[in-house]
Amino acid sequence: MSDPRLDLVIKDGIATLTIKRADKLNALDAEMVDALLPLCRKIERADVFAVILTGEGDKSFCAGGDIAAWSSSSADEFGRHWVRDGHVAFDALARLSQPVIAVLNGHCLGGGLELAACADYRIAEAHVKLGQPESGLGIIPGWSGTQRAVRRFGAQLVRRMTVFGDVFTAEEALAHGLVDRLVEKGTGLHAAHELVERLRGRSPRATELGKMMINAAEGEDRERVIEAFAGNLAAASEDLKEGVAAFREKRKPNFNKKK
Ligand code: COA
Repeated sequence: MSDPRLDLVIKDGIATLTIKRADKLNALDAEMVDALLPLCRKIERADVFAVILTGEGDKSFCAGGDIAAWSSSSADEFGRHWVRDGHVAFDALARLSQPVIAVLNGHCLGGGLELAACADYRIAEAHVKLGQPESGLGIIPGWSGTQRAVRRFGAQLVRRMTVFGDVFTAEEALAHGLVDRLVEKGTGLHAAHELVERLRGRSPRATELGKMMINAAEGEDRERVIEAFAGNLAAASEDLKEGVAAFREKRKPNFNKKK
């Protein structure tokens, strides 16, 4: 399941994922959301130490969910597929082991803001506007814009965007902590590559573990993180070797109680 409007390029250990639908301001339809999940799996398993996420053109990072697509689905389809599939794909992005840098090179609205919230670092170009305008359309943010966004940005900021329709400039977004860095129009990708070079000199393993622990502290992927750390420790133990050997040899295991 792939979609040419989600373009993944992996080069020199960097995965660059670009939404290529500039004529619709990089709005995401159901096919694009479906294509995001396998791309995340591909990045997770590839020899990649950093991910850059951006949108085609200079007008929009992502203007959200495709209004024509979701407004034509039934209420049941909306909850069962549109919202659920978006959660699954966005969760996969937020839970990648590699750090994700979002280059916000234009409108970052609705699903676009929810997508940006999945990243570990947000670079906004000076002309960018950010918000969650869904209530003006009679709908609510459905791809974790009231959940992950609240955990990452704080409830009051999300309340202002979601309930009151505040749309922030890049400068305001920086002041409020919605983005981490503000750069001139057209220079976001360059800034992202500078940041990636900083990451290149750091331990990928320690970076991954740090990201996992911070995610867990935020309530993101907590169950898996705990089980992954515990599983890793158990898998490295002598007990595992003895337990599996005993199973194969059809005998009782002789565990060393001190190790
Ligand atoms: N879904 C589907 N199509 C979208 C879209 C979206 N979320 N956002 C923009 N588009 C389309 C427009 O329909 C238009 O298509 P057309 O040329 O075939 O008519 C094209 O992208 C360009 O958008 P346009 O509105 O003409 O650009 P603009 O510069 O006048 O306005 C925005 C830009 C971002 C202010 C405006 O497009 C907008 O409000 N978009 C919706 C944002 C939103 O509510 N997102 C949350 C959705 S749940």
